[in-house]
Amino acid sequence: MTRTPHGDVVQGLGQEVERLLRILPSPTEAWQPSDYLPDFASETWPTRLATLRAEAARLPDDLLVVLVGDMVTEEALPSYAMALNQLVQDEQGTSPGPWPRWLRGWTAEENRHGDLLNTYLRLSGRVDMRAAEVTIQQLLVGGFDSSSQGDPYNLLVYTSFQERATRLSHRATGALAERAGAPGLARICRVIAGDEARHETFYQRMMGAVLDQDPDGGVLAFAGMLERQIAMPGFTMGGPDDPDLFRRFALVAQRLGVYSAADYASIVAHLVKTWRIADRVVAGDAARAQHWLCRAPERYARLAERMAVSAARQPQSGEAWAWLSRPSSPSLMSLPA
Ligand SMILES: [Fe+2]
Ligand SMILES: [Fe+2]
Repeated sequence: MTRTPHGDVVQGLGQEVERLLRILPSPTEAWQPSDYLPDFASETWPTRLATLRAEAARLPDDLLVVLVGDMVTEEALPSYAMALNQLVQDEQGTSPGPWPRWLRGWTAEENRHGDLLNTYLRLSGRVDMRAAEVTIQQLLVGGFDSSSQGDPYNLLVYTSFQERATRLSHRATGALAERAGAPGLARICRVIAGDEARHETFYQRMMGAVLDQDPDGGVLAFAGMLERQIAMPGFTMGGPDDPDLFRRFALVAQRLGVYSAADYASIVAHLVKTWRIADRVVAGDAARAQHWLCRAPERYARLAERMAVSAARQPQSGEAWAWLSRPSSPSLMSLPA
């Protein structure tokens, strides 16, 4: 693999990675999807399955749509793991260095998210799993472009942003599940959000370490990624037959408050503060980028307000989703707060 100055800085952070590897529990200590699902080898499974299905029957269609979209996005993990190999440069697939060990540990943790949501939705009886599987395959075939352009600083900015975005969205979905009377699903969302929180910590600390060593390069990377816009990982889920699918899913998520432009703005503000962008000593283009970044939270917050107003004005489409087996439940909007 070719080495670049940015790659050398990132590879030089091995000791810090080594220290943070302790945030990944071993596979025997970690939670597993089975901890949150009926055990079909146990005599209790009929009761546990009945409870799961009774809860799932209370979920409004729009919440189910968000869950399927989230599950599909998690299931496209192979694409993200492939993209992140540019960051860790695991040339053998079993390299013993701290970065490759991080990526393998991260991948193994993330792999449980799609497994758990997929199994839950299958058991719920509310989802047309074949349609959902077609979407997963479309997303994997369509690929994933983080617009990082193969640069490791950009990849650290991207992952820092996205882990926080997924944490917020799983947490919000869990809160809505609780409100809809599905505490089992709420627990599932919370345990996944807990993983995303640890992953967020890792990537944000590593990007912070990059900024300490190379403030000019780090500030330029952060500004460049925001200028190109942080792409959502599920963007290509509709494939050529339904290129609009992601946009419609994102609109439902925005309307429910699961992930909205306000979250995007809050993440930008969080990163500007966490990475102490205003305090970095930089010059030239990087100083201009720093100035732009320091004003970014305010700009994005204003934009989010405008988007919320226009989203509220859009008529609720009541569209039929191929993902849902029996589209009949009321919208979440009709539930008591
Ligand atoms: Fe995840
Ligand atoms: Fe994640």
